Amino acid sequence: MRFAEFIERCHAEWPEFDDRGRLEKSRSPQNRDLANVLADVPGMATENKLKLLNLAVASLEPDEVYVEVGCYKGASLVGAALGNSAHRMFACDNFSQFDGAAESLQQTLRQYTPPGQVQFFDMDFREFLQKAPWQPARIGAYFYDGGHSFEDQYDGLRCALPHFSADAVIIVDDTNKRAARAADSLIARQVRGFELVLNLRTPRNHHPTWWNGIQMLRYRRQGEPDLAGLGGPSFAVRKFIYDDVFLNLKHRRRALRREIKEWWRNR
Ligand SMILES: C[S@@+](CC[C@H](N)C(=O)[O-])C[C@H]1O[C@@H](n2cnc3c(N)ncnc32)[C@H](O)[C@@H]1O
Repeated sequence: MRFAEFIERCHAEWPEFDDRGRLEKSRSPQNRDLANVLADVPGMATENKLKLLNLAVASLEPDEVYVEVGCYKGASLVGAALGNSAHRMFACDNFSQFDGAAESLQQTLRQYTPPGQVQFFDMDFREFLQKAPWQPARIGAYFYDGGHSFEDQYDGLRCALPHFSADAVIIVDDTNKRAARAADSLIARQVRGFELVLNLRTPRNHHPTWWNGIQMLRYRRQGEPDLAGLGGPSFAVRKFIYDDVFLNLKHRRRALRREIKEWWRNR
């Protein structure tokens, strides 16, 4: 992707772009043309996030594509697509988290994107990234907003890695979560060519600035990435701590709370 041009566009939208503290507090970009998207398409996103994705797509080279994991009802996909009809987009969701999103997504795509611009795949992201239906094109802009366990976050980057173009931007959502940041930072340590460009936190989830935090990485390919060097003990230890211990505890706590509520209602 044309990275320098992308960053220039970011500066035009957020004059405070280089000042992390002020950017974290920003409620909207200068150009409000995407302000209505979230009023029309329910989504887990903010206007800032949509604009960032939109600028990334606008800065793609002609032989690059945008790839998104985790679409829900399509707000981020539409935000990325609007005004960028020359660029092809590929997206997937397995609808494992929220009911009724599949039908809404199809309707949203019919309403907001020209036929053929977006190809959507209803499947697990690992299968999607293995299939890589955009080939022989490469990914110039990648948005990961799928499952948020450490293993999901790590695989979201690991499986996409062979498909990144020589210079690609990777935007990862929900990085208020420690597991998400840990996955990004482990990949960036294990693979040469990653650079953390943005690391924005928000005071809570659903925040009007940057939702639940966002990280943006630049990947500059230095030869073929060494896929054999991925995973290993560093991955296993983190997966154990974040998923097997913390995530497991969180799920058990939620289940217990549900049981108590149910008991209270029926007593
Ligand atoms: C936070 S939502 C995405 C929000 C969306 N980007 C937006 O802007 O409104 C996360 C989505 O990831 C999907 N998801 C979770 N695990 C997945 C997996 N393993 N493969 C594909 N999609 C997955 C869920 O079904 C859910 O729709």
